[in-house]
Amino acid sequence: MKILTLHGINLNMFGKRDPAQYGTVTLDEIDAGLRQLGQELGAEVEAFQSNCEGAMCERIHQAHAEGVDAVLINAGAWTHYSYGIRDALAILACPVVEVHMSNVHAREAFRHVSVFSGIARGQICGFGADSYLLGLRAAVSLACAAQGNKK
Ligand code: DQA
Repeated sequence: MKILTLHGINLNMFGKRDPAQYGTVTLDEIDAGLRQLGQELGAEVEAFQSNCEGAMCERIHQAHAEGVDAVLINAGAWTHYSYGIRDALAILACPVVEVHMSNVHAREAFRHVSVFSGIARGQICGFGADSYLLGLRAAVSLACAAQGNKK
């Protein structure tokens, strides 16, 4: 089982950026935690980060071609306005799980809207790096259910 984790704009700066919201954990540490949990759950976890919207769309197209089993995405600020990434995610047949480190609903009004809501299976936010781990558990569970349905 392969789960693709997508990290969007500015998320490479976790560890240096706004510690009151995001703590001091780095993206590398988040990815290492995801790989370790993935191993425990029997899933290979690959991570991709970009600050370039086109590159992110192309990685999503590639995920479609590869037939990944689920996508875990924290698109950063793109979450709130990128119809391009939303449309790319909508091409995927596999489950998409949206995660955020901070509780976006307790922050500025523009963060309350996710343009992915209509295509993501669910959103997990507000638990720091644990949002990713909870999201991975959800993604693996959804992918297992989808595989079961194929049999
Ligand atoms: C974020 C929340 C977004 O609103 C923000 O633009 C980010 C990070 C989070 O993980 O809490 O870059 O996605």
